[in-house]
Amino acid sequence: MILRRLKIKGYRNLKPHSLEMAEGLHLLFGENGAGKTNFLESINILMGWGPFRSKGIGDIPCWNKEKEKAFVWGAFEGEESLEAAVGIFKRTVFKIGGKLSNASEIRMRVPSLSFLPGDMALVEGGPSRRRSFIDRLCAVLFPLYASTIYDYRKILKQKRAALEKRSNISLVNRAMAERAIWIWSCRIAALDLLKIGLAKTGELLPGQVELFLSRGGTLGLEDLREDFWESIKKFKDKEETYRMSIVGPHRDEIKIKSSGRGASEFFSRGHRRRTALALMLAAGWAVERKVRKKPILLLDEVMAELDMEGREILVKMVESTKWQTFVTTAEDFTPFWPGQVWNVEDGKISPMK
Ligand SMILES: Nc1ncnc2c1ncn2[C@@H]1O[C@H](COP(=O)(O)OP(=O)(O)O)[C@@H](O)[C@H]1O
Ligand SMILES: [Mg+2]
Repeated sequence: MILRRLKIKGYRNLKPHSLEMAEGLHLLFGENGAGKTNFLESINILMGWGPFRSKGIGDIPCWNKEKEKAFVWGAFEGEESLEAAVGIFKRTVFKIGGKLSNASEIRMRVPSLSFLPGDMALVEGGPSRRRSFIDRLCAVLFPLYASTIYDYRKILKQKRAALEKRSNISLVNRAMAERAIWIWSCRIAALDLLKIGLAKTGELLPGQVELFLSRGGTLGLEDLREDFWESIKKFKDKEETYRMSIVGPHRDEIKIKSSGRGASEFFSRGHRRRTALALMLAAGWAVERKVRKKPILLLDEVMAELDMEGREILVKMVESTKWQTFVTTAEDFTPFWPGQVWNVEDGKISPMK
């Protein structure tokens, strides 16, 4: 899919805009604080995802225009043509083709993936970083994934409260089981697709890279249902003593290895960055293969973390995928950019000659 036209109004520091966009690569170039990340985020929200900053939706409407909604509208083309709009004020209201819709529908119809500077620590960062990565991918691949994760988290909260009060947890375990098993099966399927994708990123990878899902607190039995229940049985006392939910996808670990050793210790910093990028590209291929649409890619300040060679390979690879890709940068590599360059200055986005 591609975003052909975009209108923005009242979105953080961005001036009102009406833009025409080409397919291919887009570079947003400007000083810190100009509005590059805001621009990427506005597209991300339009495509059904959350804000990039932890403050949430409430912070999005422009501070100077109190009580006014932020508004983003886009016309998408490609495998399907559609118009989507989102109004943001305390909550988000989506429309597709003028009719009330929701975030999950737009995420399915316009598959997209975003990567933020923090994702560059995908390899060596904590397990929650990798879970967040796989969750974003699964949310594009499997229509019910995001809502199942949401339900699962609610149940997890109930379980923690029950453990705290020392009340019976058998009912809450039963509610947890179905979701846990389904989440695991989705993550496994996503990892299988990622592995296929990784094979295409050879040039970026420092060597053979292997991916595994180590299921949270389980015995690792082959059958997912059996694994859940046997592990719950085995760790019952421990869960109750420590008042901690040990078994379940909330404690999954996605292991990245090379020749049997952990990539985080084995690779140099530069190689870890490249592996992170290879995983991002692999996620794009996973989407294309499963959803049969070209994803739209948003890359916020990821180039800064790469050496020159890494950048060149990344740009060449993204160019060859034909995915419409938006990349932000404060560093000037506009002379080498094989696509559209936009100048971002004080909330104003204009095509650079
Ligand atoms: N709701 C808002 N209203 C007005 N300005 C905002 C709002 N939220 C953030 N900003 C401002 O947007 C500016 C640009 O942010 P950002 O997009 O992160 O810049 P860049 O990515 O180009 O460095 C920041 O200076 C910030 O103060
Ligand atoms: Mg930024």
